[in-house]
Amino acid sequence: MRSPDNALEVDQLTRTFDVSAPWLNRVLERKPKRYLRAVQDVTFTVGRGKCLALVGESGCGKSTVARLVTGLYAPTEGSIVFAPDRNGAPMEAQMIFQDPHASLNPRWRVGDIIAEPIREFGLRDSDEATNARVAEVLKIVGLSPDDAGRYPHEFSGGQRQRISIARALASEPEFLVCDEPTSALDVSVQAQILNLMRRLQDELGLTYLFISHNLAVVRHMADRIAVMYLGRIVEEAETEALFANPQHPYTRLLLQTIPDVRAPNRTRALMGGEPPSPLNPPAGCAFHPRCPMATERCGREAPSVRPRPEGGRVACHYAGDSL
Ligand SMILES: Nc1ncnc2c1ncn2[C@@H]1O[C@H](COP(=O)(O)OP(=O)(O)OP(=O)(O)O)[C@@H](O)[C@H]1O
Ligand SMILES: [Mg+2]
Repeated sequence: MRSPDNALEVDQLTRTFDVSAPWLNRVLERKPKRYLRAVQDVTFTVGRGKCLALVGESGCGKSTVARLVTGLYAPTEGSIVFAPDRNGAPMEAQMIFQDPHASLNPRWRVGDIIAEPIREFGLRDSDEATNARVAEVLKIVGLSPDDAGRYPHEFSGGQRQRISIARALASEPEFLVCDEPTSALDVSVQAQILNLMRRLQDELGLTYLFISHNLAVVRHMADRIAVMYLGRIVEEAETEALFANPQHPYTRLLLQTIPDVRAPNRTRALMGGEPPSPLNPPAGCAFHPRCPMATERCGREAPSVRPRPEGGRVACHYAGDSL
């Protein structure tokens, strides 16, 4: 580990997927193999007890990073190192998904859904102790111990997300990866779940990797924010510094898409076009076809990563210049 204050260190992480046509088609149509680079050279750290947010448009590689960090995918290149947990073993991350409907088995009672990781890891030595732990985590997330006997469909979307959180907490993890945990919920319910997650972070000393396409959501959760574009981190900084002084043109455009209640009629620069496909990434800086500041150099030369003035880093030839 580079620092004992870090819970997670991710270095130069790259993940490619083989998206070739089936073998027979390739042979008959003389097509080469095709690879898609979903995540490229991604480097970040998450401090113990802190929250790092990963933000970016659909398809930029956020969920792939989440799956790499939780071990669901193996890295193509690069390393993922967790600090030791309270027992001295490497921390294990638990994951909370966007859609609690799809991630909770509809045929199981809530009590069994939450007890599964406890049983699987042998964390309690009797059914009684397991049930007591289930009741405890249900209370922690604001549900009732009696809810253990009910089925997921008997709950609202917000309550179901509380069940997912209870399940993630059942094995007493120190690290949670939250992949768009509130994106499927109504705005009012979103706020309740975000407040719950903040309270749990304080009370249980959790560390979060928090994924969202919405900068407004992460502003109140994250200590630091990393902005991703087409598989790479293009800017990373402390939350308030990023909001106060965004340096990458992409970060600035993302910030302008947040509605401002104090200035509802302000003119917003619209993000031009769709994000390009990672199967066929643009040459030079991947953002240049959509960038209002792009010059001929941007189409030719990929920008290197530079430090930002108040800490953090940015990858743009013209970082900080006025738009
Ligand atoms: N298992 C896979 N096989 C092939 N391609 C994949 C696979 N998983 C992801 N991809 C591709 O990798 C890219 C990044 O996908 P990813 O799901 O990580 O994006 P995301 O940022 O989470 O998007 P969203 O906001 O829509 O959830 C996409 O182009 C996607 O099609
Ligand atoms: Mg995703």
